[in-house]
Amino acid sequence: MNDDERRRSIGRPAGATPGSGAGWRLLIQTMATRKAGLAIGIVVGLGWAAGRVAIPLLVQLGIDRGIENAAESDEGWRAVLPWAAAIVAAGVFSGIALGLRRYIAFRNARAIEARLRDRLFAHIQRLHFAFHDAQTTGDLMSRANTDLQQFQNFISMVPMLIGSVITVVAVAVIMLVIEPVLAALALVGLPLVYLLGRAFSTRLFPTVAEIQQRSADLAAVVEEAVGGVRVIKGFGAEPLQVDRLGQAADRVHDAGFRALAIRSRFLPAMEVAPNLGLIIVLAYGGSLVLDGRLTIGQLVSFNAYVLLLVQPLRTLGMGVTTGQRSAAAGVRVAELLATAPVITQPRRPTELPPGPPRGRVEFRGVGFAYEAGRPVLDGFDLTIEPGESVALVGPTGSGKTTVANLIPRFYDVDDGAVLVDGVDVRDLRPQHLRRQVGLVFEETFLFSASVADNIAFVDPEASMGDIRVAAAAAGADFVDELPRGWETEVGQRGYGLSGGQRQRLAIARAILADPRVLILDDATSAVDPAKEHEIADALAGVMERRTTIVIAHRPATVALADRVILLDDGRVVDQGTHDELIATNATYRRVLALTPEGISG
Ligand SMILES: Nc1ncnc2c1ncn2[C@@H]1O[C@H](COP(=O)(O)OP(=O)(O)OP(=O)(O)O)[C@@H](O)[C@H]1O
Ligand SMILES: [Mg+2]
Repeated sequence: MNDDERRRSIGRPAGATPGSGAGWRLLIQTMATRKAGLAIGIVVGLGWAAGRVAIPLLVQLGIDRGIENAAESDEGWRAVLPWAAAIVAAGVFSGIALGLRRYIAFRNARAIEARLRDRLFAHIQRLHFAFHDAQTTGDLMSRANTDLQQFQNFISMVPMLIGSVITVVAVAVIMLVIEPVLAALALVGLPLVYLLGRAFSTRLFPTVAEIQQRSADLAAVVEEAVGGVRVIKGFGAEPLQVDRLGQAADRVHDAGFRALAIRSRFLPAMEVAPNLGLIIVLAYGGSLVLDGRLTIGQLVSFNAYVLLLVQPLRTLGMGVTTGQRSAAAGVRVAELLATAPVITQPRRPTELPPGPPRGRVEFRGVGFAYEAGRPVLDGFDLTIEPGESVALVGPTGSGKTTVANLIPRFYDVDDGAVLVDGVDVRDLRPQHLRRQVGLVFEETFLFSASVADNIAFVDPEASMGDIRVAAAAAGADFVDELPRGWETEVGQRGYGLSGGQRQRLAIARAILADPRVLILDDATSAVDPAKEHEIADALAGVMERRTTIVIAHRPATVALADRVILLDDGRVVDQGTHDELIATNATYRRVLALTPEGISG
């Protein structure tokens, strides 16, 4: 699949691919959500800059006025005290401002990152199934983590960057006012500091990223070596594994060394560059002092200002690179946010009629394709009456899951319509529709939570009584025998459940939601066939009172349905009761007997 096709398949409208400007737009747009916090950060950053800029001026005044006064009056060294006190005060002030600035900057950055993360997460949740079909989890995770981290880095730098700009401008102005020619000479070397700072972080960034990547690779090798220790030992492959580890460690070492080489090339240059300015200040400024055109205090403050400029200039140089990096990350995030959900809210949504009767499902001439040009359903017609239980049977790839997915509108049809209780599913709010259509897949997903919480997933307020009723209807009677009963933790951590047990919890979860239409897509495949009668009892309970669509391969399960629909190649090829089809349809007999579940069932 080429890029173009992929973009189409994830449903982005043509021409909406964001360019590099989108990253900056998102950055600014995101920062605008925290104007007050940023404004405070900037004000504090200005305070910090003002304190720092004031100190050399105070030193100058202390030397020129204080020492002069001390020489002329009889106050002696006390004449310098007020200036010294002012310098201490300015130092303390800018120190406090520095602490505050850092605190506020990080708070802002965290808050903005959290907000953007929420927005991204909500957006990913809203995106349609076809989008998730085409995306890898790794890519989504990296957009949600690394890219947002980049964003946060830059946002936390903003008050410092603005403080730095102000410092540079203020210092340059002060120097130009004191002595324009000397100022111009002293400032000549300083753009070099900025350029060096920029070049430094431009070079350093890829190697830092590489170190992170290589360290992650190394961690993966270690993890596999520990997790796969039985396989490794089983094949006597320890030496191979040690080699792999050695190579991975070498790569981390090499990347670290490259970063070190960059640091040792740039950092000395960045230290030395400002000294050019100092030499000029001393040589030319010294001669001005001797001519009486510059005071000693002014010379000293010039000296201090040149040094003071070094850090802000370096910061600005690095800030530019960080900004570019976070804009690049922003492009990736913006791209995701610009992916429009294909399953849209209807402009004037209707509600399902309250009923009863409830749960009529109708496919009217439905045409559907996942990929253009490869139709899965074409002119598909099927009506399921309220309360009816229907089994969908057909060879693998015949379109059973596709039919099931169209009812809760996981995908939109290309032709015709799907109706629930007489309403086109596209006229309903998707959430409203999906609360009324319960779909249980073969692959069950349980959350890391208790058995009870997993069943009560859609309705955390459900009473223990409701949970027990739903569990009983799904045949999940094993729960009482678990060591911690309903409080047993399942999912990633905690007690491991068998495949069949997990499936029954998933069915109980769907039943608790009390949908009009319940669809079980191979949702009983892992339940022990020896317990066929238990499934039968459970399913009979499930099928009462609501429309049920069961996709299954086991004759005993299929036989429970009022009507069996035989699908082949996206079309209904026959229908009737299980016994009728067994008696009259050879394809049906073949499908049930030839599938592995059919044989075991
Ligand atoms: N997400 C998807 N993207 C593209 N093609 C798909 C997708 N899902 C299914 N298909 C294709 O659609 C056709 C019908 O698939 P479907 O999953 O509906 O079959 P099924 O009857 O449920 O099969 P099984 O019994 O194996 O579950 C198949 O040719 C399949 O390759
Ligand atoms: Mg299927």
